[in-house]
Amino acid sequence: MTIRILVNAALLAIPIAVTLGILFGLQSHRAATGQPPLFAPEPPPIPSPKPPAPPKNGITKTRYCQKSFGITPDTKGQQYTLNPNQWNWNPGEPGALCVNVTTFNNGTYATSTTAPQFMISWQYPPGPADDPVHAFPNIQVDSGVFPATISSISKVDVDLEWSYGIGNETTVAASLADLQADNLNTNVAIDMFIDSDKQAAQNPSKAKYELMVWFAAIGPATQPIGFAQGPVSTQTLDGNQFNLYTGVNQQQQNVLTWYTNTPVEKFNGDISPLINSLFKLTATDLPKSGDYLGYLALGSEAFSVDKTVTLYVPKLSIDIEAATSSST
Ligand SMILES: *[C@@H]1O[C@H](CO)[C@@H](O)[C@H](O)[C@H]1NC(C)=O
Ligand SMILES: *[C@@H]1O[C@H](CO)[C@@H](O)[C@H](O)[C@H]1NC(C)=O
Ligand SMILES: *[C@@H]1O[C@H](CO)[C@@H](O)[C@H](O)[C@H]1NC(C)=O
Repeated sequence: MTIRILVNAALLAIPIAVTLGILFGLQSHRAATGQPPLFAPEPPPIPSPKPPAPPKNGITKTRYCQKSFGITPDTKGQQYTLNPNQWNWNPGEPGALCVNVTTFNNGTYATSTTAPQFMISWQYPPGPADDPVHAFPNIQVDSGVFPATISSISKVDVDLEWSYGIGNETTVAASLADLQADNLNTNVAIDMFIDSDKQAAQNPSKAKYELMVWFAAIGPATQPIGFAQGPVSTQTLDGNQFNLYTGVNQQQQNVLTWYTNTPVEKFNGDISPLINSLFKLTATDLPKSGDYLGYLALGSEAFSVDKTVTLYVPKLSIDIEAATSSST
């Protein structure tokens, strides 16, 4: 088929070329003999219609159900990347997770650090006791601030509202009792990585320290590392008490978890005291103020649940301020 079409086109080309040659010849003859050209000069091109401008305002909703994918919505302010991050699940296995993102077409959000609204709907059966987590869907701060030495960071303002509901893509919050009755095991947490090396600090599997702030732990399987040993420190932020637990994970990273006993669904405050107070502790293997913070994301470790649940985050802003000299 293809070859025949090419042959025909080649055959057609001959008469066209011949005709054009004749016309060009005639034209130059008329010009040479002072006659007006046979054809008028080409009219100025008619401007082609402009492509329709994208809507200036309004919102766009998108759904992402793949195993892992970085979604970086356009913004005029601070950039965030959302990721379903189903690191311990493969297509075809039981369970599902989708991230729904609501972006503003104009890229202008409530403040320069406001993130797009999103929701994460998921359902997984229980995994083995020693490997119970299927995914860590999250929203990461893509800030030029990272990596920054901890001593250079003056604030990490977090303005957050979230709810967990029962159902697919629901914005209706369920009670803790109802979530527990459906055997939900999950947390809602900020995850940070710290290392004395700039590159390692930006790599969640290589960084020496993982520092987390849990706003909720739901279900008996959801416990911070070192929980059984009891807290090593306590702090109150925005009226909420956080207790610090420490331990070492399977990858031999030092894990420090600020944990709250009751879910904190609304939080507005500076969490940098939860980082800086580590330097006052007496344990031996702790980050130092000259170490780098290289990564910060908010997400939910998805263990298991009987029915589809939805983490809805209608409000999120993460505002990190660091002295510029150390961010270069
Ligand atoms: C941007 O779009 C959003 C959503 O439609 C709207 O609420 C907001 O007022 C717009 N902002 C500007 C500066 O146009
Ligand atoms: C999720 O995203 C899809 C578009 O991909 C949209 O049709 C649907 O309405 C969204 N769901 C909610 C609850 O916003
Ligand atoms: C939620 O519903 C949508 C639309 O029917 C579907 O595409 C998606 O897979 C569902 N999400 C989950 C986690 O089951």
